[in-house]
Amino acid sequence: MRLTLPTDANFIGNVFGGVILAEIDRVAYVTASRHARQNCVTASFDRVDFLEPVHVGELLQLYAELTYVGRSSMEVSVDVHSEDITGRTRRRVGHAYVTMVAVGADGRPTEVPPLAQPTAADMQKFRDGERRMQERRRTRPSVPGPN
Ligand SMILES: CC(C)(COP(=O)(O)OP(=O)(O)OC[C@H]1O[C@@H](n2cnc3c(N)ncnc32)[C@H](O)[C@@H]1OP(=O)(O)O)[C@@H](O)C(=O)NCCC(=O)NCCS
Repeated sequence: MRLTLPTDANFIGNVFGGVILAEIDRVAYVTASRHARQNCVTASFDRVDFLEPVHVGELLQLYAELTYVGRSSMEVSVDVHSEDITGRTRRRVGHAYVTMVAVGADGRPTEVPPLAQPTAADMQKFRDGERRMQERRRTRPSVPGPN
């Protein structure tokens, strides 16, 4: 949970999107690192949607879930909600998919445990995540990339 402050505001007085992105990145990092039991880095963000503005003074609540695990990469689905301070109103304000990669002390990718898929719904999410990951691999820029 994160209380948004006046210092988080954009030019029209709502919360700056970059503040929300940083929160998404943090929660994705924690989710992936807990699964991998090692350090992770953010490899990519894709399909970040800001559905509604967040007002300064509201609480951000983030819900993260691992949806796909490859050899060293993990897809984290992050849902963002905002609540007024009284807790009376709650809105879904954003969603993102983040790819985190587990890395060893040398910064190179390392293998992570497989993802348990106990239910049919989990298996479906995994298959959907796998499709998105294949697309990311296909469209990933090569290094060195464009400036
Ligand atoms: C992410 C990183 C470790 C990948 O290293 P790499 O040498 O390209 O490694 P590989 O090509 O072997 O890819 C490793 C895995 O990452 C995945 N991956 C790499 N780049 C990716 C991208 N842009 N999007 C999604 N997945 C990606 C690969 O598909 C592979 O997955 P798998 O092991 O599950 O099959 C490297 O690009 C890096 O360190 N990037 C900077 C990360 C960082 O510092 N982030 C913080 C913001 S600056």
